[in-house]
Amino acid sequence: MTVLKNDLFLRACKRLPVERTPIWIMRQAGRYLPEYRAVRKKADFLTLCKTPELVAEVTLQPVDLIGVDAAIIFSDILVVPEAMGMHLEIYEGRGPVFPNPIRNEADAKALKEIDPGIELKYVLDAVALTKKELNQRVPLIGFSGSPWTLLTYMVEGQGAKTFSIVKNLIYNNPALAHALLDKIANTVANYLNAKIEAGVDAVQLFDTWGGILSPHDFVTFSLSYIEKIISRIKRKDIPIILFAKGVHFSFQQLAESGADVVGLDWSMEIGDVRKMIGDKVALQGNMDPTVLYAGQEQIRQEAIRILRSFGHGTGHVFNLGHGILPDVPPENLKALVRCVKEESVQFHSSGSEFES
Ligand code: CP3
Repeated sequence: MTVLKNDLFLRACKRLPVERTPIWIMRQAGRYLPEYRAVRKKADFLTLCKTPELVAEVTLQPVDLIGVDAAIIFSDILVVPEAMGMHLEIYEGRGPVFPNPIRNEADAKALKEIDPGIELKYVLDAVALTKKELNQRVPLIGFSGSPWTLLTYMVEGQGAKTFSIVKNLIYNNPALAHALLDKIANTVANYLNAKIEAGVDAVQLFDTWGGILSPHDFVTFSLSYIEKIISRIKRKDIPIILFAKGVHFSFQQLAESGADVVGLDWSMEIGDVRKMIGDKVALQGNMDPTVLYAGQEQIRQEAIRILRSFGHGTGHVFNLGHGILPDVPPENLKALVRCVKEESVQFHSSGSEFES
C-alpha cells in the first residue's frame, strides 16, 4: 500500500494529532488562476470536466502553484443531473442553466436511474488519473452536491433569488419533492461510493442552499437526505465533510449527521462553534472569501485570528467560508497558505503548553 507523503488534512479530519493546521480552499482550481484560464481557452467548461487529462491538470494546479494540503477533483455538482438526462449549459458570466427544468411528475419520471460507472465514468477515470499524477503528495477530495442543492437547480433551472419555484414545489407538492430528493439521494450515494472506489481519500457534500430553508424545513428537505447518503457511504476510513452554507441554526444537528467534519461559512466564530460541537467532529473554515481582497498583512492578521479562535489542538481544517472569488490575486492566496502553515505550528506543538 502506498502512503501519502502529506496526510495532515486526513489526520485533522479524524481529529488525530497534527504538527500544523492543514489548509485547502473551496474552488481552489478556478478562474483566479491564470494557468486555469489558459486551459479553459482550449476547452469549454463541460468539455474540460469530461476530459480526464485536463481535469488532472487543473486539479494539480493549486497543489503545485499555491501549496495547499489537499486536492479536490475538478468537476461540478451539476454533472449529476446532467447524467440523469437533463440538458446543462454553462454560460460565461451567467452561470449554469438547465433550459428544461423539472416542473411536474412527467419531468421527474423522465429522470434516469443512472449507474455512475457508466454515465459518470469520465469522473471516475479523472479520479484514477489524478491520483496517479498526484503521486501520493496530498490527499484527493471527491464531492457531490446535496440532494436539496441539486434539486433547487433542477427545478429553478438556474441560479435563483427568491427560490419561489422550488419553494412552491415543497409546499404545494411535497410528495413529488420527496420522490425527487429520494431519487437524487440514491444517485449521490452511488456516485460517492464509486468515487471512493476510484480512489478519493475524502468526500465533501456541498449544501450551498440549505440556508434558504427554515430550521424545520432544513431537516425535512435537506438534512434527512444528507443523513441517508452518509449512512450509505462505504466508509473504508474515508472522512466525510458536510458543508451546509447559512445553516448556523443547525450546527448541533450537522454534528450528529454522521459527518466527520462540519464546514463553516463565515457567519460564526469558529471558536464558539468548537465550544458547541467541536468534540464530536472536526471543523473546516472559515475565513470570509473577500478578506483575500485585502493586503497581505491584513490577510495574515485575520488568519491568525481564526487560528486563535479555534485554539489549541487538532480538528481544524483551514479553508474559506465559501469558494474563492475569480478576481482574487493568486499571490494573496499564496500568502494565506504560507501564513497558516507557519503560524499554526504554535497551536499544535508539544511546547504549546507554555503559550498563554
Ligand atoms: O473546488 C474546486 O476547485 C473543484 C471545482 C468545483 C467547481 N464547482 C468548478 C466550477 C466545485 C467543487 C464546484 C461545486 C459547485 N458548483 C457548487 C457548490 C459549491 C458552491 O460554490 O456553492 C455549486 C452551487 C455549483 C454550480 C455552479 N457551477 C455555479 C453556480 C457555477 C458558476 C459559478 C461562477 O462563478 O460563474 C458553476 C460553474 C463552475 N464550476 C466554474 C468552476 C471553476 C466556473 C466555470 C468556468 O470555468 O467558466
